[in-house]
Amino acid sequence: MSRLSGKIAVVVGGQGGIGGAIAERFAAEGAAVYATSRRAEEGDVGHGAGTLRTRRVDASDVAALAAFFEAVRREAGRVDVLAVSAGIAEFATLDAIGEDHFDRTFGLNVRALLFATKAATAIMPDGGSVVLVGSIAGGIGTKGYGVYGATKAAVRSFARTWANELAPRNIRVNVVAPGPTDTAMMAAASDEVRQTLKTLIPLGRMGRVDDVAAAALFLASEEASFITGAELPVDGGMAQV
Ligand SMILES: NC(=O)c1ccc[n+]([C@@H]2O[C@H](COP(=O)([O-])OP(=O)(O)OC[C@H]3O[C@@H](n4cnc5c(N)ncnc54)[C@H](OP(=O)(O)O)[C@@H]3O)[C@@H](O)[C@H]2O)c1
Repeated sequence: MSRLSGKIAVVVGGQGGIGGAIAERFAAEGAAVYATSRRAEEGDVGHGAGTLRTRRVDASDVAALAAFFEAVRREAGRVDVLAVSAGIAEFATLDAIGEDHFDRTFGLNVRALLFATKAATAIMPDGGSVVLVGSIAGGIGTKGYGVYGATKAAVRSFARTWANELAPRNIRVNVVAPGPTDTAMMAAASDEVRQTLKTLIPLGRMGRVDDVAAAALFLASEEASFITGAELPVDGGMAQV
């Protein structure tokens, strides 16, 4: 359990849900993890072989993110591994999409993700790793989630470009793309929607946050040292068969 031993890791959106599971898994594997959340009780705790430091940051606020990464640089000197999980998914069909919905969704899922990755890779040594949390929604056309799906398609596209741009520094950039996963985001869906989703998943169940964290750990670790620019679906086969 020490695949990230000695690494400094940041998880943007690292409390609760998928990001929380990633932060805990990274720490369990020996990393010194900095996790952001708007709701965080700031604190530093030992977790498994590593440490988990929670910092109160609004991931949609690019200036706050910049200040956070500067604080990590002062404290830890570098970021070896970045995971970006903060994201929102709100329902709106084309006729109902307003500018606020668009700006809020792109502002967090795309704009903030871009500037977090820019800030982290500015202090990332050669050989580092970036894992972006996308979604299978980026490649399918789920009714009512057009803006959300477009943000995740943008994440997929960024990963390709950044993988190419950062390859000379041996920094790998990959996407983990969950299907429906049991988190607060999914709890907002009705029982009917949840039941319908299950019938669309070949493996017959919703994803668990630990399923996604395991894939993120793989992509972040040396075991994926020849994988970059890729998207790893964690969806029970939903968008694969
Ligand atoms: N659950 C799924 O079925 C599913 C499927 C595919 C992809 N994903 C992706 O997985 C990622 C994590 O989602 P989750 O399911 O773990 O959801 P979640 O438990 O609701 O977590 C949402 C995350 O986004 C942050 N966030 C939400 N609204 C925000 C806002 N207005 N401003 C700043 N930060 C905000 C939260 O940060 P705070 O701690 O600050 O609240 C938290 O880190 C997202 O990128 C999502 O698109 C989820």
